[in-house]
Amino acid sequence: MVFEPISRPGLQGVIAAETRLSRVDGLAGELIIGGYALEEIAPYAEFEEMVYLLWYDRLPSAEEKDSFQQELAARRALPPIVLETLHAAAKQRLPIIDVLRMAAGLLNLTLRSDEEYEAASVLVAAFPTIIAAYSRILRGEEPVSPDERLSHAANYLYMLDGEIPSDGRVRALNTYLNTVVDHGFNASTFTARVIVSTQSDLVSAVVGAIGALKGPVHGGAPGPALDTVFEIATPERAEAVLRAKLEAGERLMGFGHRVYQVRDPRADVLNIAAERFFTSGEQLELYQLARHVEKVAIALLEEYKPGRKLQTNVEFYTALVLHGIGLETALFTPTFAIARVGGWTAHAIEHLHGGRLLRPLAQYIGETGRRYPAPFPVA
Ligand code: ACO
Repeated sequence: MVFEPISRPGLQGVIAAETRLSRVDGLAGELIIGGYALEEIAPYAEFEEMVYLLWYDRLPSAEEKDSFQQELAARRALPPIVLETLHAAAKQRLPIIDVLRMAAGLLNLTLRSDEEYEAASVLVAAFPTIIAAYSRILRGEEPVSPDERLSHAANYLYMLDGEIPSDGRVRALNTYLNTVVDHGFNASTFTARVIVSTQSDLVSAVVGAIGALKGPVHGGAPGPALDTVFEIATPERAEAVLRAKLEAGERLMGFGHRVYQVRDPRADVLNIAAERFFTSGEQLELYQLARHVEKVAIALLEEYKPGRKLQTNVEFYTALVLHGIGLETALFTPTFAIARVGGWTAHAIEHLHGGRLLRPLAQYIGETGRRYPAPFPVA
């Protein structure tokens, strides 16, 4: 069969494969994950249930949930060579997300088979341990060993602080992780699928996906989004600071989306989760400032990019929720990876079973007809 080539820069609007994992409706502003509307499930489920839903296409029973949690908990510990790598990386103060990528590649060392669910569980289970351990080493502290009795979210906070977290922080973190666990063919998920579309393996797919996630227009946005709010500092400065950025041709972090033409539905779920933390004092002022910054940013984006419909995306509220939970900015993108690895592994498994090789075309715009100089004088 001959296909007529079509050109869509950035693959915008192109359907590259089928998925049963999540549906992103950019016009209605709706997100469905594993059959559930986001707002129906994200604020209530535990992260392990979301991962189970994505891997097995249904929620677990109470017993299945317990044994799934135990299975993941048993895979949290890191091999000594990974810990050595974290110490070596800390000497150079490498960014956490780069160290996560390096350490994820070493997880092959813990695999006993090439069974894909084993690799998927090891990847999901070990991410929080790598991130929390490295973050503590960077602070000059000893890593805290995982506690198998704690849930995935609670254990992550415990390994960061060395203290059992409050139910409120755990609930907010679960809501965040559930909200961003999967989102159609975003750049990092697509990267994972491209990699396994060659019949490669899950660890390779996830290592590639981390590389795609860290860029500032994908998962790297929440830190800079919060920095902007801090830079603005008081409501009356919002317009001047944001206008100066737009005049300088900068993008406002936390706004705009390739698919959503309306407000990102994840922003609403996270806004409700964030609100709980910002009830008084300086914290409440920060939250109110952020809401004001959001309003001013949307109005200015309409002025500078009329008709583009640039609205708040998930990263703006990610910054507020994670800050409210007490995470430092450097942990925002790595914590995104803790969630999204659930989606990456689900997509990789889905694509391994029936997906085609992902291989688009390129429009050649280079020269033609160049001649290689003759290697010796031609008589
Ligand atoms: N601030 C200012 N202008 C913007 C923004 C923004 N946040 N987003 C898009 N624009 C403008 C572009 O400058 C461009 O203008 P032009 O046509 O006059 O040149 C126009 O809108 C279209 O932009 P594109 O980059 O072509 O749109 P694309 O669909 O590729 O962009 C993206 C989507 C990358 C998310 C973009 O909106 C952006 O860079 N946002 C800021 C970074 C961010 O918040 N990223 C997180 C996204 S959510 C996630 O990945 C989990």
